[in-house]
Amino acid sequence: MGKVYVFDHPLIQHKLTFIRDKSTGTKEFRELVDEVATLMAFEITRDLPLQEVTIDTPVETATSKVLAGKKLGLIPILRAGLGMTDGILQLIPAAKVGHVGLYRDPETLQPVEYYVKLPSDIEERELIVIDPMLATGGSAIEAIHSLKKRGAKQIRLMCLIAAPEGVEAVKEAHPDIDIYLAALDEKLNEKGYIIPGLGDAGDRLYGTK
Ligand code: URA
Repeated sequence: MGKVYVFDHPLIQHKLTFIRDKSTGTKEFRELVDEVATLMAFEITRDLPLQEVTIDTPVETATSKVLAGKKLGLIPILRAGLGMTDGILQLIPAAKVGHVGLYRDPETLQPVEYYVKLPSDIEERELIVIDPMLATGGSAIEAIHSLKKRGAKQIRLMCLIAAPEGVEAVKEAHPDIDIYLAALDEKLNEKGYIIPGLGDAGDRLYGTK
């Protein structure tokens, strides 16, 4: 069964408070999401494999460690996932970026794929699906399903805030997926917003309503 990690680093929690605050404007909101994404990337890359190399320091020859070159892929779910992507790329600039666009069918209320553009070698990559808000889990479940259908084998899910309902839904649909969060909130309200949450992540990132 996949694990759920909540990153309780003080810097992440501090910045998340200002992200949640409704008086935080678009510019600051975007900057804070970017910063938290970088800090989360630091935590999420903890288990990247290393290999030993030999180098010459000014003093002597030494063995030291470098990343073993694991191929990574970032998959933001459009559009709010874009708000976290650059922050992660700050730490792992060699990662390739694929995009998945989903909309909710007004009749069935199910997510429908309208755009998918992925690195050609996704089956060899460790993919991080990015969506700031894990509410019902519908979009994340569909995006992960879409990646698996195209051959992806290693997938993680990274969100800022999740509702317990969304976490349970992802665990049930994709028991192999680890989920990384900055906060696990109380619940969903009747309109599908996470409580206490931060409102609509896409609208707050891009100043729309
Ligand atoms: N999507 C958002 O942007 N916010 C929520 O609270 C739930 C889903």
